[in-house]
Amino acid sequence: MAIQWFPGHMHLTRQAIAERVKAVDVVIEMLDARLPGSSANPMLAELTQAKPKLKLLSKQDLADPLQTEAWLAHYQTQDQTHAIALDAKHQAPVKTLLEACRRLAPTRGESLTKPMRVLICGIPNVGKSTLLNRMVGKTAAKAADEAGVTKQEMRYALTDAFYLYDTPGVLWPRIIVAQTGFNLAASGAIGRNAFDDIEVALVMLDYLKTHYPQSLQSRYKLGQDGKEASDPNQWDEEALLARIGKSRGGLLSGGRVDLQKAAEAAIHDFRSGALGRVSLETPQEFAQWLALGEELDAERAVRKEAFAQAKAAQRKSGQKKRW
Ligand code: G4P
Repeated sequence: MAIQWFPGHMHLTRQAIAERVKAVDVVIEMLDARLPGSSANPMLAELTQAKPKLKLLSKQDLADPLQTEAWLAHYQTQDQTHAIALDAKHQAPVKTLLEACRRLAPTRGESLTKPMRVLICGIPNVGKSTLLNRMVGKTAAKAADEAGVTKQEMRYALTDAFYLYDTPGVLWPRIIVAQTGFNLAASGAIGRNAFDDIEVALVMLDYLKTHYPQSLQSRYKLGQDGKEASDPNQWDEEALLARIGKSRGGLLSGGRVDLQKAAEAAIHDFRSGALGRVSLETPQEFAQWLALGEELDAERAVRKEAFAQAKAAQRKSGQKKRW
């Protein structure tokens, strides 16, 4: 199953971004450092094409540092783009952001007459309010959350010459990369009703098994009793999920494992960092998934068109017969 949803306020936020982008010097795109490719909103890329971009990899404390380095290097090769990684414990976020933005717009941000104006965007749960809270104080950022429901933009003066425009976190209407849907769900960006926890946990365990077997082994103490395999790669995902359920006491009547509870526990362990610092995609993997997603999407479009044409022809021949 591919994950889809219907984002609220998407249209209004899209309009607000399209308007604001014309009058800013830099667009900051907040990405989840554990899934930078999947957390990049393609709608934003389309709206901000010509603007200098700062890719801000958030929650770096939860991500695999090697992969974060790889993603930063990947973004640095892109035109008009700079990339940095941060987390909520960062000591001086305003200074770091201003310095990073100045690399993209060197003449801005030093004087009142030439302030640095930036737009900050990101998907839900990427850590934007937490960062804003640190930069502007809890009350101000809270006000932004509340205002975001009715008003699509908030403006903050981070210094006398550094203005930040904030927009509500949005997703995009259609996901063409299957793995992106699963990774967004695992990260908490998608509302719970839009996905199946068990399916998301199985896809996540499959990835972690290959890339971070040690994390799974030590978190779930695989092989501790000497009767089971300690290497997660010797488990299939379903068995691994059942094992997680058992060790967490998630049993139903008759001793059956509660797979729903097990899936929730595995996802929670990923989100909270209990599995250690792990990332769910490398730049190379994401490029492959994207290429496949685009290929399948193009095939789908051809099939849809052929179906529409066949239907139109059928309607036409039906009309002729009636004559
Ligand atoms: P948003 O505005 O982009 O939607 O995200 P928000 O700041 O609300 O952050 C979403 C969740 O991510 C919060 O956890 C927050 O504490 C956590 N978070 C934000 N930045 C970081 C970071 O740099 N590192 C880590 N490890 N976590 C971060 P929550 O469990 O949903 O809420 P809470 O109970 O912690 O507030």
